[in-house]
Amino acid sequence: MKDADTTPSAFCAKLLEPNAKNIQYCAQALEEGQLVAFPTETVFGLGAAVTQLSAVRGVFRVKGRPSQHPLIVHVAPGANLNGWVAQITPIMQRLMNAFWPGPLTLVVPKGNNMPLEVTGGQTSVGIRCPSHPVAVELLRATGVPVAAPSANRFGKVSPTCAAHVLIELGDQIPFVLNGTAPEVGIESTIISLLNDQPAVLRPGAITADEIQTVLNIRVQTFAEVSKTQNTNPRVSGALEKHYSPDARVLLLEADELIDWPVLEPTLCVGWTDAFLAQAQALSQQHGRVMLVKALANNPLHVAQNLYSLLRQADELNCQQIWFEKPAIQPSWEAIINRLERAASS
Ligand code: TXA
Ligand code: MG
Repeated sequence: MKDADTTPSAFCAKLLEPNAKNIQYCAQALEEGQLVAFPTETVFGLGAAVTQLSAVRGVFRVKGRPSQHPLIVHVAPGANLNGWVAQITPIMQRLMNAFWPGPLTLVVPKGNNMPLEVTGGQTSVGIRCPSHPVAVELLRATGVPVAAPSANRFGKVSPTCAAHVLIELGDQIPFVLNGTAPEVGIESTIISLLNDQPAVLRPGAITADEIQTVLNIRVQTFAEVSKTQNTNPRVSGALEKHYSPDARVLLLEADELIDWPVLEPTLCVGWTDAFLAQAQALSQQHGRVMLVKALANNPLHVAQNLYSLLRQADELNCQQIWFEKPAIQPSWEAIINRLERAASS
């Protein structure tokens, strides 16, 4: 008997292994206006061909994302951007040469062919060329750019494997293309080239320092941008609560651990000896209620594991997640950003 409270599922997503035949098949599905989730080196994306407006609207519907939040557009290496962006300025070209394919999204004036549905009504577009081999092959096989936000429900944790996509959106989309785990693990750095001074709108694996070195001009950091940002968020990751699991997330230093009640179960994630020793001591004191996870003290490694740990905590019905507070350093900025959003309530 059917449960009267459940909405009927439109799809039961097919998980496709990324061989040449399936990639071709998915490219055709995109061109025909279907949604395809696929791996990138940052997180899995939920793709729609930019020219298929009902598919683009479908992305917003499936994610539960407000329609004024623009989607990132993905292109293959060496793709002709004519008509999709207004022009390729020398600065844009230099960043493309240095960081594409890779986890850098450029916000630039859009071209005439780029639909406003994709850009959330804005005259600018966020565009990037991913490096994951499956994404590259899919984009090469698809004749047009592919709009793809992270393949999760709006405000939730981005997926870093096909299983995460299937669990969250499997009844909403027809195809999920499989692929190796993202090397980066958190979303791309977004840099706006709309004003004289380039500005980081979302921190990621590529830092403001690295961009500045390539351009040889001053780049506004994310911290500087956040201070001046107006209340209308153009970057949905800039909303207060985002990337959030069901469990309560707390950012703590080693000597603060002792002050917090151990709710059962608690997941405790850290990387320094002091934090891990304190967590182990508490864990022994409280029996089986705490799960202590040690990561390498390296922001790239923490990024790779961050989202799967947040999801794991929910699978284990954790009441809270204690994350070690990272050092305030440029290389940790993207991690701090994601953890602070996950922790805000
Ligand atoms: O790593 C990534 O960028 C992943 C993978 C799938 O490529 N995609 C991703 O997309 O994170 P999404 O939709 O979750 O985040 C896109 C962000 C949004 O916060 C959006 O507001 C911003 O990019 N964005 C896109 N176009 C923009 C524009 N024209 N101006 C300002 N922000 C823009
Ligand atoms: Mg997202």
